[in-house]
Amino acid sequence: MRASQTLFLLLWFFCVYAPSSFSTNVTYDHRALVIDGKRRVLVSGSIHYPRSTPEMWPDIIQKSKDGGLDVIETYVFWNLHEPVRGQYNFEGRGDLVKFVKTVAAAGLYVHLRIGPYACAEWNYGGFPLWLHFIPGIEFRTDNKPFEKEMKRFTAKIVDMMKQENFYASQGGPIILSQIENEYGNIDAAYGPAAKSYIKWAASMATSLDTGVPWVMCQQTDAPDPIINTCNGFYCDQFQPNTNAKPKIWTEGYTGWFLSFGDAVPHRPVEDLAFAVARFFQRGGTFNNYYMYHGGTNFGRASGGPFVASSYDYDAPIDEYGIVRQPKWGHLRDLHKAIKLCEEALTATDPTITSLGPKVEAAVYKTGAVCAAFLANIATSDAKVTFNGNSYHLPAWSVSILPDCKNVVLNTAKINSASSISSFTTESLKEVDASGSGWSWISEPIGISKADSFSKFGLLEQINTTADRSDYLWYSLSINLNTGAQTVLHIKSLGHALHAFINGKLAGSRTGNHEKANVKVDIPITLVSGKNTIDLLSLTVGLQNYGAFFDTWGAGITGPVILKGLKNGSSLDLSSHMWTYQVGLKGENLGPSSGSSGQWNSQSTLPTNQPLIWYKTNFAAPSGSNPVAIDFTGMGKGEAWVNGQSIGRYWPTYASPRGGCTDSCNYRGAYQASKCLQNCGKPSQTLYHVPRSWLRPESNTLVLFEEVGGNPKQITFATKQIGSVCSHVSESHPPPVDSWNLDEESGRKVGPVLLLECPYPDQVISSIKFASFGTPHGTCGNFKQGSCSSSQALSIVRKGCMGLSSCRIGVSINTFGDPCKGVAKSLAVEASCV
Ligand code: GAL
Repeated sequence: MRASQTLFLLLWFFCVYAPSSFSTNVTYDHRALVIDGKRRVLVSGSIHYPRSTPEMWPDIIQKSKDGGLDVIETYVFWNLHEPVRGQYNFEGRGDLVKFVKTVAAAGLYVHLRIGPYACAEWNYGGFPLWLHFIPGIEFRTDNKPFEKEMKRFTAKIVDMMKQENFYASQGGPIILSQIENEYGNIDAAYGPAAKSYIKWAASMATSLDTGVPWVMCQQTDAPDPIINTCNGFYCDQFQPNTNAKPKIWTEGYTGWFLSFGDAVPHRPVEDLAFAVARFFQRGGTFNNYYMYHGGTNFGRASGGPFVASSYDYDAPIDEYGIVRQPKWGHLRDLHKAIKLCEEALTATDPTITSLGPKVEAAVYKTGAVCAAFLANIATSDAKVTFNGNSYHLPAWSVSILPDCKNVVLNTAKINSASSISSFTTESLKEVDASGSGWSWISEPIGISKADSFSKFGLLEQINTTADRSDYLWYSLSINLNTGAQTVLHIKSLGHALHAFINGKLAGSRTGNHEKANVKVDIPITLVSGKNTIDLLSLTVGLQNYGAFFDTWGAGITGPVILKGLKNGSSLDLSSHMWTYQVGLKGENLGPSSGSSGQWNSQSTLPTNQPLIWYKTNFAAPSGSNPVAIDFTGMGKGEAWVNGQSIGRYWPTYASPRGGCTDSCNYRGAYQASKCLQNCGKPSQTLYHVPRSWLRPESNTLVLFEEVGGNPKQITFATKQIGSVCSHVSESHPPPVDSWNLDEESGRKVGPVLLLECPYPDQVISSIKFASFGTPHGTCGNFKQGSCSSSQALSIVRKGCMGLSSCRIGVSINTFGDPCKGVAKSLAVEASCV
């Protein structure tokens, strides 16, 4: 055989056989996903790649891995990748291939939810606007034009992934994929066509031959072999539609999304951990946190309407990429506890017994392995006997017993440290020495662009703008013989509007996330002769959820009426000839990149006036802490840093005063309106500027201000971790890591308070608070109780100062007993440098 023949044979052998030897076989059965023949317990978390930057991805993914995740889940965002039909974009934050590679490099799996309908509080649910204009199209139903486009995009993504060998079947990280999204929640509205659409979607997906299973979430009738999965705050009661499918939870909410005009959502970790433990207790083997890192809605990506630019979600990793404690740490401990049960969990179904009213045991036992979950679903504590031993079960908690005897973790008892992060404000260091440092351009009121057009009647906004801009001008002029005090009545589908009469802002009105419509009566003065009425209507993120959401529309669809004219008569302007302008003049000139030559920089900077573009040059805050811009002092608009949009800002839109409580009781079923924070305050004042978008010196900040503000009040804020705290009682289980120390002693070490500095190069520099006895309060706010050991502070100081982490036994052996017969705990607040 000649050398070239040998080489050819070798190459042929590699092409045909080598990939399969690296491939991972993913199937499923009644209990779990089966990876290379082994049933697995898998913990997953949602990270949407465009909601952070490629520079942030490695760190966020590493923190996810450290938090105990096995899988990263993301949607694929169609309108990001195909903004114009046939023109694709996979650059920057849209670099899906790079994102999947980053996850793979960390050794994690991927669940790719192609959709291509995403929902996700993403503009228009992820659909590109051009889709809406395809003749004869109806979204998400048995409709040929829609199905053709959906298939084309889905196949495009699958092909891309295959080309990179990303499917597990090719040796890559993708073990699961999703088609559609929560269609079952709304399919009744689509009638019988819904059924055939779902059948079509299932067979279309399967035909793409990815070699890994597909899921449909919230889809009871998902056809085989598609796995129907559950989304919700709790999914323990969920059962898949056949006994051949595993119980998978695709969206377990770590918090909730924030809307402009609403209070800030908060889900306590005790309740989230309870929900997750309940899921595994009741036979689940795959859960996904929605969101594990929420991130930021940059640009005009947020859906809604009214979804805020922050998509922090109260997730275990915050918007800025910092771990949120104790949420992240307590969940990490929970994952370790659940993984200790993996063998038993995957071996069998649980046997569930009642231990009393609302107290339940689930036992996974075969042969030598046994794991148990004891749940107290009541809102008061319980004492139970299980296998001859007695257990105290705090209200609304699950205890996990990996050996059916010893408790490794209780969901209501947090061993993990908590921390306080805070923002430090810095003034904007302008590098432009001339004048005020700010320059400006006035945006004309009313029609100013050459591509304006006139039509009789009022037009729906989204059909008119195709979402090329948030803004649509509706303008007309009327002639009156005499001046008049009258009322301008406007009805709009939303989302907000500003009415200008004769070039002056006469009134504004905005809807909110629950109710986008606006109806307003504005008292106005008209002059004798010509009067101009310029109505600026705006969208604040397009609807992303609901049956037929794509057709709900926006804008001033009328009527528009001048009420109370002479003799109490009205003039209905709705069917008059209106002139329309899509977008703003400034949007066309490109000032968002700061490049227009038309900036004014006279020393008198106009402030508190509507419709102005502002620009400045600034030096980045020093250091490496995450950066935000505090827009307090401004009204509403959008901002660009070095040409990159950091999103819509709206610091004046405050949430209603009511609805928050001082203390949040995690016990009892959670919904998004429970435990709200920040009532009566602006929904969002701080807007994330990714570090990688900043240069050390000379950065350009451009804003478009709609209603009026003073840009000189804009400041920077950098985020850092302040104190670290921990509060552990005598009845806490030992740290989960001590379980494996040695079979018996590890399970008997007793409770330990663990303090750890947030960054590796730091040491504990001061103990701000330490009390063993009956301390109470929260991190930063601990108070001594009536019982307190006098030695606590010195013992903790001695054991912790100068170290990067320390462990203190929480027991009377360490501290002596300051109050016999009373249940005691140790609370510590420390700082690190
Ligand atoms: C679900 C949806 C997600 C997201 C979530 C709320 O209904 O599937 O995409 O929108 O609600 O954050």
